[in-house]
Amino acid sequence: EHQKLIRNFSIVAHIDHGKSTLADRILEMTDTVAKRDMKDQLLDNMDLERERGITIKLNAVELQYHAKDGHTYEFHLIDTPGHVDFSYEVSRSLAACEGAILVVDAAQGVEAQTLANVYLALDDNLEIIPIINKIDLPSAEPEKVRKEIEDVIGIDAEDAVLTSAKNGIGIEEMLEQIVQKVPAPTGDLNAPLQALIFDSVYDEYRGVVLSVRVFEGTVQPGDRITLMNSNTTYEVTEVGVNSPKPIKRDYLMAGDVGYLTASIKDITDTRVGDTVTNAKDPADKALPGYREMAPMVYAGLYPSDNAKFNDLREALEKLKLNDAALEYEPESSQALGFGFRCGFLGMLHMDVVQERLEREFNLDLITTAPSVTYRVNQTDDTVLMVENPSEMPEVSAIKTIEEPYVKASIMVPNEYVGAVMELCQHKRGQFQTMDYLDDYRVNVIYKMPLSEIIYDFFDKLKSSTRGYASLDYEIADYEPSDLVKIDILLNSDKVDALSFISHREFAEKRGREIASKLKKIIPRQNFEIPVQAAIGAKIIARTTIKAYRKDVTSKIHTGDPDRRAKLLEKQKRGKKRMKSVGTVDIPQEAFMAVLQTD
Ligand code: GTP
Repeated sequence: EHQKLIRNFSIVAHIDHGKSTLADRILEMTDTVAKRDMKDQLLDNMDLERERGITIKLNAVELQYHAKDGHTYEFHLIDTPGHVDFSYEVSRSLAACEGAILVVDAAQGVEAQTLANVYLALDDNLEIIPIINKIDLPSAEPEKVRKEIEDVIGIDAEDAVLTSAKNGIGIEEMLEQIVQKVPAPTGDLNAPLQALIFDSVYDEYRGVVLSVRVFEGTVQPGDRITLMNSNTTYEVTEVGVNSPKPIKRDYLMAGDVGYLTASIKDITDTRVGDTVTNAKDPADKALPGYREMAPMVYAGLYPSDNAKFNDLREALEKLKLNDAALEYEPESSQALGFGFRCGFLGMLHMDVVQERLEREFNLDLITTAPSVTYRVNQTDDTVLMVENPSEMPEVSAIKTIEEPYVKASIMVPNEYVGAVMELCQHKRGQFQTMDYLDDYRVNVIYKMPLSEIIYDFFDKLKSSTRGYASLDYEIADYEPSDLVKIDILLNSDKVDALSFISHREFAEKRGREIASKLKKIIPRQNFEIPVQAAIGAKIIARTTIKAYRKDVTSKIHTGDPDRRAKLLEKQKRGKKRMKSVGTVDIPQEAFMAVLQTD
């Protein structure tokens, strides 16, 4: 029977332990991609992913593997991202699988997200196949890592394959273990259709393309299907698999992972986590959906050119389809005009969204400083959730302000524990516990305000531990804090989009820092621009952006046309991510400056 020859699996790991490289080797070994079409990180098909060397979106491909037992197996491999911001993508792909390859770097060992991801896989009852990668590195200590996997994660690692994804070592042995250890899918071909939507993208020509895992029944072109949660009905136009290019199939059946199109034009109808069933003979109930991901940070997204507001709205609608965790709603700012308040999982997610909107939809955008959601207990006994600092009520209306805290686990070699603790204290962290994982590695747990870690905490953590620390965090709860809103005034006008919330203790220092940063970032004009920071009516810092000394544009009138064109081009590029507020041009960096701390 066909199902016996199917294996659905994912690869999970801490970031940079080699998932994508390993996926490339698997693609080669299974002759899925002709050698001439092979390029590095084939599954990372967004330009952005290739440039940054990280996986952002999950990808599913079908592979044929000729096993030593003489059978040809159909593998469905679902690649997953490793960065903490994208862990929701991990749980989505796991729900479509029976097994997971757990990649652990032979030199780095188990790290914070190795643990977080393996727990997600265990929650889904997946068979876990540990492998130890990068054994070619001189610093590799595979036997030590094997023991660590057993001690720290608590799974059997006796058979863990030693691989070098870089040099193609151990790949076949790993593929054989997939055949032997990952259970074949089960599911009744004659039962009513139940297929889980685990991803979707919008295609200009075909409409919405759904990535699905079929659990029960079959589906083929011409079938009338219902999306159970959104309760909408369509006719299937095409089914197929990605290999990795889309290949049409006559049908998909229980156990398969593939794609489905049904001329779905209204993108708001499709939700990742929804179940596809037959319209005529529907399943009794939907498959358990995914955990909803709540955004952790909010920021305003505005077109540099106000006329592009509707373009931005359309772009967000389309991107949302491909990025389930993105949230947005319209907002307006006195300074920036009309835009959207968007919810993100973290800073990397926010960066990626901004870049994708700009690249894929040809927009030029400004993002305001990200903020967490504050809970404000007001004197009239109502509670207000504030996602945008400029909407913080007047001091007289506030009883207390609470802010979200996270539980952060930081794994680090013990020689850096001091540096980590110092950094965490500096970021208002409260020490919780510290566990020795083995003789030299420690898991340090801190409770910290989310607002202190969203911006540059991860970078600071990496630099103060020479790259050795790894971080994972989850939202813990809300706690009261002594917070104040700081306003920024340019040319005596309050710029609402530059307002931010600070702990009172650091408010004056932050106000001064930011005023002097803005002075450096905001380009000079032909008049003086006073920059002020204020708490309520009280000015806490003041500086001035001086006027031009001489007219720099006069340079353009000189000399040869080539040079002139270049200068104009340079000026045009310089204009990107810039917003005119009143008479002042504010570049993107200015909006982020309010978050940088020294
Ligand atoms: P994300 O996709 O961002 O989660 O990272 P990843 O886990 O997919 O890691 P990726 O495959 O991008 O590899 C990270 C880095 O490790 C790259 O520079 C690879 O070239 C390198 N790398 C991967 N496998 C090996 C290996 O077996 N040996 C050595 N020496 N380097 C490797």
